[in-house]
Amino acid sequence: KRHVIITIDGPAGSGKSSVAKMVAQRLGFAYLDSGAIYRAVALYLLQKGIPPDDEAQIEESLKGMNIHIKDLQRIYVNGNDVTMAIRSPQVDEVVSSYAALPVVRRRLFSLQRDLRDDRDLIAEGRDMGTVVFPDADLKIFLKADARTRAIRRWKELMERGVDISFDDVYYQIVQRDEKDANRKLSPLMPAEDAIILDTSELTLEEVVDKVTELIKDRV
Ligand code: C5P
Repeated sequence: KRHVIITIDGPAGSGKSSVAKMVAQRLGFAYLDSGAIYRAVALYLLQKGIPPDDEAQIEESLKGMNIHIKDLQRIYVNGNDVTMAIRSPQVDEVVSSYAALPVVRRRLFSLQRDLRDDRDLIAEGRDMGTVVFPDADLKIFLKADARTRAIRRWKELMERGVDISFDDVYYQIVQRDEKDANRKLSPLMPAEDAIILDTSELTLEEVVDKVTELIKDRV
């Protein structure tokens, strides 16, 4: 039997992760946080001191990187649990530069594609509906104004005890979106057949309800 695939794409802080996680839980779907994989690559290369402009060395270095996603929940790199470490502002700052590279995207493509065979899946990221799962059963694109997204992200960082100013968070979000939306390969944009949902004025619960309804109508 062919499994159901739902994609949720959108910019940083649009609520994708929380929404995808909660909807997946409600419907008993598996959940793929594709950003976590890009973050793991960024952290790995950052720790090795390889800058984003050294594509040759990145390609070589990635051969020694083994990514393992356990229960689609925790992410391991060469046996080390990096689930928390990939959420730092340091990773936020560099991840888009690494994610724009063809050698990185090529490497991660099949890793993501292969997850579709296991069970019904909600995949969340930037290019889930456009590139990785173009034949998804339902594609959703979440958006929200930059200020709202920065507030959400800042609160999240504060709750985790990360010391960073709101202005820095805002600036980082705007920078990251611009990089993600303007890269040549798999830029951040809604698929032609995506349903676009503006979450600026909605609570998390409202978005989750809305997305759950859309899925129930479609599959
Ligand atoms: O979703 P999250 O904010 O964790 O993603 C981190 C970064 O990973 C994004 O800013 C983007 O550069 C990259 N990414 C990507 N394609 C995806 C998911 C994330 O390029 N499908």
